[in-house]
Amino acid sequence: MTQALDEIKIGGLGARRKRVEDHRFIRGKGNYTDDITLPGMLHMEILRSPLAHARIKSIDASRAWQIPGVHLVLTGEMMATRNLAWMPTLSYDTQAVLATDKVRFQGQEVACVIADDPYIAKDACEAIDVDYEPLPVIVNPTQAQAEGAPVIRDDKENQADNVIYDWEVGDAAGTDRAFGQADVISRLQLHYPRSHPSPIECCGSIADFNRATEKLTVYMTTQAPHIIRAAVALVAELPEHMIRIISPDIGGGFGNKVPVYPGYVCSILASILLERPVKWIEDKSGNLISTHYARDVYLDGEMALRRDGKILGVRMRCAADHGAFFSDAQPSKFKIGLLHSAFAAYDIPVAHLTTRGTYSNKAPGGVAYRCSFRVTEAMFFQERMMQAAADDLGLDQAAFRRMNFVRDEDFPHRTPFGFLLDSGQYRKCLDVGLRAVGYDDFRQQQEEARKRGRLLGIGISTMTEPLGAGNSREYDILGIKMFDSADLKVHMTGKAIVRTGAKTQGQGHETTWAQIVSHELGIPAEDIVVEEGDTDTAPFGMGTYASRSTPVAGAAVAMVSRKIRAKARRLAAHLLEVSEEDVEWELGRFYVRSAPERGVTIQECAMAAYSNMPDGMEPGLENTAYYDPPNLTWPFACYIVTVEVDPATGVWDVLNTVAVDDCGVRINPMIVEGQIMGGLTEAYAMANMQFITFDAEGNCVGANYMDYLLPTSWETPGFELHSEVVTPCPHHPIGAKGIGECAAVGGPAAFVNAVMDALSGSGVRNIDMPLLPDRVWEAITYGRDISGAPPVRSDD
Ligand code: CDP
Repeated sequence: MTQALDEIKIGGLGARRKRVEDHRFIRGKGNYTDDITLPGMLHMEILRSPLAHARIKSIDASRAWQIPGVHLVLTGEMMATRNLAWMPTLSYDTQAVLATDKVRFQGQEVACVIADDPYIAKDACEAIDVDYEPLPVIVNPTQAQAEGAPVIRDDKENQADNVIYDWEVGDAAGTDRAFGQADVISRLQLHYPRSHPSPIECCGSIADFNRATEKLTVYMTTQAPHIIRAAVALVAELPEHMIRIISPDIGGGFGNKVPVYPGYVCSILASILLERPVKWIEDKSGNLISTHYARDVYLDGEMALRRDGKILGVRMRCAADHGAFFSDAQPSKFKIGLLHSAFAAYDIPVAHLTTRGTYSNKAPGGVAYRCSFRVTEAMFFQERMMQAAADDLGLDQAAFRRMNFVRDEDFPHRTPFGFLLDSGQYRKCLDVGLRAVGYDDFRQQQEEARKRGRLLGIGISTMTEPLGAGNSREYDILGIKMFDSADLKVHMTGKAIVRTGAKTQGQGHETTWAQIVSHELGIPAEDIVVEEGDTDTAPFGMGTYASRSTPVAGAAVAMVSRKIRAKARRLAAHLLEVSEEDVEWELGRFYVRSAPERGVTIQECAMAAYSNMPDGMEPGLENTAYYDPPNLTWPFACYIVTVEVDPATGVWDVLNTVAVDDCGVRINPMIVEGQIMGGLTEAYAMANMQFITFDAEGNCVGANYMDYLLPTSWETPGFELHSEVVTPCPHHPIGAKGIGECAAVGGPAAFVNAVMDALSGSGVRNIDMPLLPDRVWEAITYGRDISGAPPVRSDD
């Protein structure tokens, strides 16, 4: 009899395979953009605006030009002569590359200097004299819509105010009717503050234009190299086949490295003008103050409820602050991204959402910081609202959720906003979480502690989210459909290379894509190398963000492996001298159905593809697959947090965090756990400390790590992870759903709900994030809600 390969031993699906990329990372052998040095390379630095809103009266760069070592000073006026002073955004707006008429946010790019080294370039930036005429500043949607507010985008024809769009979705009349039948109406209003992904590596690029070959090569920190190639071709009017974008190792992206930034454009133009490589590496303050940020939405809404706890309908309103340019890097046709995925986990008959987007004097918004666009805000509002509604009804938090969940037997389930959920076992996940945290015992302890003046709280967040943008019917970026791709070459010795249109930034694709091939073909994972990020070699793809890699590129890897297997089957039949119908497959080997001991390995088939193919067969064992997913994948998560709040100081400590994630089939459980832990750390950070705010003059507070607090391992609590619930995705070839962002999306509400639960009975309904000790203390002491971003006092 035959002996099938042990899939776990060869590193296939489900193996806790150590990350192969870590061999170079932990030895300091990563190859990041800033590690690359090209012969004759020059360095670029950017002069940024100190003011948030001002007319530019003049720019005098004459002193900068005279500094020895300076090769070029770029200003908006020069860019304009090449039609490059403005560029299109991914949301059909325009964004200034270098300011010409006005500056519209603090940190906006005003000029660039290219010099022999970065220090000369920086000094020369200081020598550029810009005469600004300050203008009134707008830092939130209320100011943006006030009577007589200055029009920020007066560069745009027909823009008479600061409103970008009004958008609505759902059934307004049906929702009104549901509210007419409600026993109880529960209300909530909150602000999800602006936050910044803050990857360790900032943005950067090295543009290298070769006049002799007319070829432009750009090494850069982008999560979507093919999209950048298309954008460069269209904006700079260069031939696409003469552009090569290379994303080397990326030191974290989290959505921050999806957009096109002025620094990229200027380094490319400078290289073309100077015919030398030009490197731009952004510094940390530049990154925090001026690259695109996330969130900054004001949400309010209400829920129509029957007295027994059944949800009858939901209404939501959203005011989104987009900053100075509407440049959301989001792949949907919906103006506010996927905000209307809110409440998807619950069986709600009807819902309605309205949203208005406005400009402000802040850096452009709109990166999907570890989330499918606006899903984080959606799930935060949802889970805060669920807690408020349960409290208003006097029902238990867990029971209220369980009663309203979409039931296992109701999949596929259509939400009132039109999404189609694929699969899930929501009640089971909740039950696992409640058991793990000891819910009933904790409630008793909480009662006892209350009597002694101690404030304990428990917060639940249960959510499903749409991952894997997207299907080409509904998702695109500037009209380019959201499919993805994989290219697989099996060499004659049975070793293989797989390339995809995704781009890892720490998620471990080099490890997990090999595991998918291994699962499909039985080639040991260590015999497969994965390569991404070079547009000259990788098949066209839409890049990595929104946890789309596994749902889309990962599916393409499985599909291309199946194409290879189909050809290998024909080779096997030829080698075994039987018809194809008589050939059976087991992992890594074809055999004759009637004589299982007669078989050939996938490696023998690979050799035959180059040395002994049947007559008429095209040689080689290579193929490419493009995958257009039929739907998004919908993982489910249940996060439960317990806390103790010190009423004397407002400090809160996390006692326990339980995470039950159902992301379908796990390719590599260890990597999945890493993704969840990272996401929970970011969730804790957002709930506890992480925000970027602005004073009345539009000065950014949070442009350094003294003000913008990232939790270290010292502050971060421990997490208890559970993997016992697995609901395969019915439409994904290997049943996997995305996981990358789940914990960052669903986690914040669990932490905030826990603190609010500790404060229950105090009259406090909401404290907006971050729940800094002084805000919690103020809420407890005065029994009042704390709303909006933390104020910045003049003496701060
Ligand atoms: O798009 P991104 O890579 O950020 O997110 P993802 O597709 O959710 O995948 C994150 C990492 O987790 C990748 O290395 C995946 O292959 C891995 N993963 C997994 O092992 N099993 C899953 N069901 C989902 C993701």
